[in-house]
Amino acid sequence: MLSKNLDTALNNQVRIEAESSQIYLSMASWAETHGFEGIAKFLYAQSDEERIHMLKLMKFINDRGGHATVSDLKAPKSNYKTFKEMFEELYKHEIFVSESINKIVHVAFSEQDYATHNFLQWYVSEQIEEESQAKLILDKINMIGDDKGGLYLFDRDILQLIPNNSAK
Ligand SMILES: [Fe+2]
Ligand SMILES: [Fe+2]
Repeated sequence: MLSKNLDTALNNQVRIEAESSQIYLSMASWAETHGFEGIAKFLYAQSDEERIHMLKLMKFINDRGGHATVSDLKAPKSNYKTFKEMFEELYKHEIFVSESINKIVHVAFSEQDYATHNFLQWYVSEQIEEESQAKLILDKINMIGDDKGGLYLFDRDILQLIPNNSAK
């Protein structure tokens, strides 16, 4: 049975994953309106992944006798000045998510809830991957700078980062 404390912390993470999904959805739409179909496709896929992270948490909370709840979400911003600005925000957001996961891991450990601690290890590994992928993208964007040709090629290359993408 989940403690009240962990129920609250995990439900807070449900909201964070849902907000992540909305943020990437908004970024995808912005990229799409700017003619960058590859970047848009990558971000739509990221948005779907965040929803899966949310659902996985909800299932765990309910399986452990807690109650997963659906709450209001903060509206994401809908415009960005540049792709660099957008990907900087994406990277910062993933770091924020990792910190949030780490805090719950700490609570689970202090409360000696080893089942929750074990469950959260999947999120710990996932965040290592997501942070390093976001950093890789940002490094490339920084390399490209304002070069339109570079961005055009990047829009095609980013498709390789989508899991099970047929355009590989
Ligand atoms: Fe996530
Ligand atoms: Fe993420």
